[in-house]
Amino acid sequence: MEPSPHIVDPDSRRFKRLDALWLTIWLVFLGVLAALPPELEWHKQVILLAIGAVQVLESRILARFEPRGVSYVILLKILLATLLIDHTGELSINSSYWPIYFLPVVTAALYCGPWATLAWTLIASGAYCSYLYPAMQEYELTADAVGYLVLRIMFFFLAAMVVNRFSQQSQHQTQLYRDLAGRLAETNRRLEQAQAEARRSERLAALGQLSAGLAHEIRNPLGVIKGSAEMLTQKLQTSDELSRELAGYISTEVNRLSALVTEFLDFARPLHAQLQPSSLTRVLDRVLEIVGDRWKGKPVQLERDYEAGLPPLPLDESLCEQAFLNLVQNAYEAMEERGGTLRVEARRAERDGRDGVRVLLADTGPGIPDKLREEIFNPFVTTKKTGVGLGLSIVSKIVDGHRGFIHVENAASGGAVFTLFFPLEEVEELPVGQSTAAS
Ligand SMILES: Nc1ncnc2c1ncn2[C@@H]1O[C@H](COP(=O)(O)OP(=O)(O)OP(=O)(O)O)[C@@H](O)[C@H]1O
Ligand SMILES: [Mg+2]
Repeated sequence: MEPSPHIVDPDSRRFKRLDALWLTIWLVFLGVLAALPPELEWHKQVILLAIGAVQVLESRILARFEPRGVSYVILLKILLATLLIDHTGELSINSSYWPIYFLPVVTAALYCGPWATLAWTLIASGAYCSYLYPAMQEYELTADAVGYLVLRIMFFFLAAMVVNRFSQQSQHQTQLYRDLAGRLAETNRRLEQAQAEARRSERLAALGQLSAGLAHEIRNPLGVIKGSAEMLTQKLQTSDELSRELAGYISTEVNRLSALVTEFLDFARPLHAQLQPSSLTRVLDRVLEIVGDRWKGKPVQLERDYEAGLPPLPLDESLCEQAFLNLVQNAYEAMEERGGTLRVEARRAERDGRDGVRVLLADTGPGIPDKLREEIFNPFVTTKKTGVGLGLSIVSKIVDGHRGFIHVENAASGGAVFTLFFPLEEVEELPVGQSTAAS
């Protein structure tokens, strides 16, 4: 994530002007204090100078010694305040400079949490009260004096509480703004990413349209070549073996090309699913029969497990048939060499709060290689010698057209398990361009 922007930019001109203003006020304040009695007490002037220096350097100390800088600054201020009191009164406890303790107290309230603020106020009060001891050596403590002292200390706590509450509120607010700015930056980043993806999809869509046009144009001459090749084969029935064989090649290869073009056009054409209430299991049974009948490889056992009383679903039967054909064909092809079992399940299920039917197609083939799992729904991904790699892209496009979901994983025993979900609720006809299946 990008770093969130500063809420108050310390380098901004407004901030710098404020800084300069506060510095001037501080110098004036310290200057006035220096001019007030006792004027000829040089210790006092030096301490005032030191207080000024700590105040001016405060932000640098905080940054330099993070996270202990705050404690250093407060401790320094308590120390300097205590020294100032010592040098500004006959009896230190009676010094009229006692409000200087507000300085460490307010600093603690600004930077610390409530408990730490109370603790620092207590320490500052303790430092101030430490002058009671020398005073009591010479004088007696009257009830009035105790009253004054308690009053002063109460004011320290009052200042601490008020400032700390305000500071906590403002810190909370700043945190909120910072979070908000962070979220905004993140949203911005996502938006840019989405825009980049949209641009890429547009380019791909344009390319798709172009190739679909090309494929369409190829289909007509292919038809002519196919017809001519068939006529040629008939004409050559009587002539030599080699010519007949060559004409046969033309015919079979043209058939292959034509199947490829048809498959590609199926994929590229925008899909308009006409959803009608239909029985999913009837479609499944039909597909299993078709694939089983034309299967020429090692025998494949079928296990059907349909939940009784499944409701009719809004389906486009012919599109669903095509999707299941591709899936079942893939499963049979995966078990081509050793045979195996294809388990087909259909049950009621719920997904993302939608009711529907879940179909499971589990074969006992080798399963899908891990590195391919993310990709097999993309067009032209194939591991087969004669495969085109469009079967699963078409499936995922059809599933999207039903607002459904498809997912693939490998069973513990190794075979591929495709899980599909078809929602129950009616959806309006959906034109679908790109397929976006989850894997
Ligand atoms: N049931 C399965 N078991 C193992 N691998 C599978 C299974 N189904 C699909 N695959 C893998 O996914 C790849 C893509 O499948 P897809 O159906 O999209 O293309 P294809 O079968 O290779 O070609 P065609 O376009 O002719 O269908 C396959 O080549 C195969 O490697
Ligand atoms: Mg296939």
